[in-house]
Amino acid sequence: MIILKTDEEIEGIRKASRLVAQTLEYIESYIRPGVTTSDLNQKIDAFIRKHGGLPAFLGYRGYPASSCISLNHEVVHGIPSRAKVIRSGDLVKIDIGVIFQGYIGDAAKTFVVGEVPPRVRELVETTRKALYKGITMAQPGHYLSEISKAIQEEVEAHGFSVVRELAGHGVGLRLHEDPSIPNFVDSHRKGPKLKPGMVLAIEPMVNMGTHEVRTLADGWTVVTADGQPSAHFEHTVAILADGPEILTEVHKSQWQRKT
Ligand code: MF3
Ligand code: CO
Repeated sequence: MIILKTDEEIEGIRKASRLVAQTLEYIESYIRPGVTTSDLNQKIDAFIRKHGGLPAFLGYRGYPASSCISLNHEVVHGIPSRAKVIRSGDLVKIDIGVIFQGYIGDAAKTFVVGEVPPRVRELVETTRKALYKGITMAQPGHYLSEISKAIQEEVEAHGFSVVRELAGHGVGLRLHEDPSIPNFVDSHRKGPKLKPGMVLAIEPMVNMGTHEVRTLADGWTVVTADGQPSAHFEHTVAILADGPEILTEVHKSQWQRKT
């Protein structure tokens, strides 16, 4: 069942999402060669708590950390570790969820450390662009599959592949709510019609090579089956009567709107 949020609930999710965006902005300057993913996770945890939030992932279905940090061929759900040292040339995907006054926001970003080959840069930029193309389709009266289709088309036009085993999701009162938001279309199924009050975490995961993934023995880390790199971007988006509002972006729609 898809929960339609009231304006008051959306305002709460807006605040949680703003803290997610601020945390992603804050952590960026610490991502450099020599730091471990555990160092970054600790800073993320402290920043969220200092601003009155709680890390939404910690303890979620037993997840052991306050963020997911996935390197290179790790797609998502990488567990921060003192043994994982960031090197120049790495793709660092950081995924953060925040609970603030009971409401939840969720976002992720791929950071490039130092120089990477042009095709890897293209992978990252294509994934970002695919997310924004999907968000553009998140309008009242559209169907959910229009988001999926826009993402898939952008990705495949560049010769990359979308991960099929994982999807975006409704968010706001729980971390994972209906609907599931695949990043590809599998048939002529249109999916539910989008309505004002829906809040969606849209999150393309895009692989350089095969779309196939597997999960490591830690039970969490999802990696590409062929070991090639993967990119991930995610925003929490509210569908309002006049279109989508990106809640996990600090600089844009957030400040224009009356709160
Ligand atoms: N943004 C991630 C997702 O939507 C959250 C990680 S799940 C957790 O799947 F268990 F690690 F928290
Ligand atoms: Co998510």
